[in-house]
Amino acid sequence: MEISLNLKNESERRTEQFVPEGPLSFGQLRTDHMFIAEYKGGEWQDARIVPYQNFSIAPGAIVLHYSQEVFEGAKAFLHDDGEIYTCRFEKNAQRMNRSSAVVCMPEIPVEMQMEAVEALIDVDRLWCPVQDGASMYIRPFVFGTQDMLGVKPSDSYIFSVILSPSGPYYPKGFSEPVKLLITDRFHRAAPGGTGASKTGGNYAASMRAGEYAYSKGANQVLYLDTTNTYIEECGAMNHFHVMKDGTVVIPEFTDTILRSITSESVMELAPELGIKVVQEKVRIDDFIKGVENGDIVEAGGFGTAAVISAVGTYLFEDGREITVGDGQIGPVSRKIYDAYTGIQRGLREDSLNWLRKVDRRFVYDL
Ligand SMILES: Cc1ncc(COP(=O)(O)O)c(C=O)c1O
Repeated sequence: MEISLNLKNESERRTEQFVPEGPLSFGQLRTDHMFIAEYKGGEWQDARIVPYQNFSIAPGAIVLHYSQEVFEGAKAFLHDDGEIYTCRFEKNAQRMNRSSAVVCMPEIPVEMQMEAVEALIDVDRLWCPVQDGASMYIRPFVFGTQDMLGVKPSDSYIFSVILSPSGPYYPKGFSEPVKLLITDRFHRAAPGGTGASKTGGNYAASMRAGEYAYSKGANQVLYLDTTNTYIEECGAMNHFHVMKDGTVVIPEFTDTILRSITSESVMELAPELGIKVVQEKVRIDDFIKGVENGDIVEAGGFGTAAVISAVGTYLFEDGREITVGDGQIGPVSRKIYDAYTGIQRGLREDSLNWLRKVDRRFVYDL
C-alpha cells in the first residue's frame, strides 16, 4: 500500500521526545497526525497520513444514523533501546475484520491495517510517552459514509487511525480493586446479536448500565446472559476468576462475549507461568457460592486498557456485598499482570514473539 504523507510543518509538530510533566491520563491526548483511507467503488484507496483534523462527512452519512462502525484498541510501547514496539496488533486487525463482517462492512487486509498503524506511529514516534507504565494507545476505526437514509450497508467507508499517548490506566499502579454490580436489569448482548463485534452501538448501549452501576456505588456492571444464568463480561472487559487451587477460569467465548486479545494472550502465556487456565460456562449462582465459601479467591477483568482490573467486591441490587478473598489484588492476578506488562514493556523475554518493532521508514529532518 502506498501511503502519501502530508505532514504538519516543522514549526507545528513535535520535534522533541514527549516527556509528560505530570500524570498522563488515558485516551485524552492526541498526536500530530492521523491515518485515513477511503473505500469507494469496492476498493480501499487514497491512503494518507495527514495532520490530526476533523472529518467532513454528509449529515446523512450512515454512521450518524445507524452506527455502522467498528473500532479497535491496542497499545505500543517505547522500550529502553529507544525503539517502539507494537504487541500482537495482527490480532486486533483480524478482530476488526470479524467485527466488520457482523455489521456488513468490507474487510481491510490485515497487512494494510498493520502498515497504517506502523507508519503513523513512525511519523509520530516522538509522541510515544516516556513515563513508567505509559504507552501509545492505538485506535483504528472504520465507518460508513454514504449519504443515504435507507437502512442498508454503506457503499463508501473511511478507515482511520488515531493515536493517544496515554498514562497507565491505574495512575497509582496496579493497586485499586474495583466493585462490580450484579444486576439482571441490563444486558450487553443477546444471542444472534452483535456482542462479539467491537461495533460502536454496543458501547452506546452499555453507557446506561455503566451510569446505573455508578449511581449504586459500583464501578461497572457484571453482565449476565439474557437468561440471567451465566456470567458474560464485566464492563468492557472479559471476566475471570481464580479458584483456590490457582486455576484461572474465563467464561467460554460465545457470540455474546468479545474475544479479548488479553484473555487469549493470558491463556497462551499461562503455561510459562505455571498457571492453569480453563474456559467454561460460569453460572452466576455457582460463582456467588464460590466467593462466599472461599473456593474463589480472586476475580477481575482482562482488557487492553488496564490489562487486569482486579475486582474486590460484588454488590447486589439490595445493597448486600460479597468480598473476593481478602478484597485485595491476589497473587495470581499480580503474577499475570507483571508478566504480561513485562513483555509489553520489554522487561521480560518476548518468548511468544508478540512484539514487532516499528520500522523507521519515514526519516524526515527534525
Ligand atoms: C466488551 C469488551 N470485552 C472485552 C474487552 C477486552 O478485549 P481486549 O483484551 O482485546 O482489549 C473489550 C475491550 O476491547 C471490550 O470492549
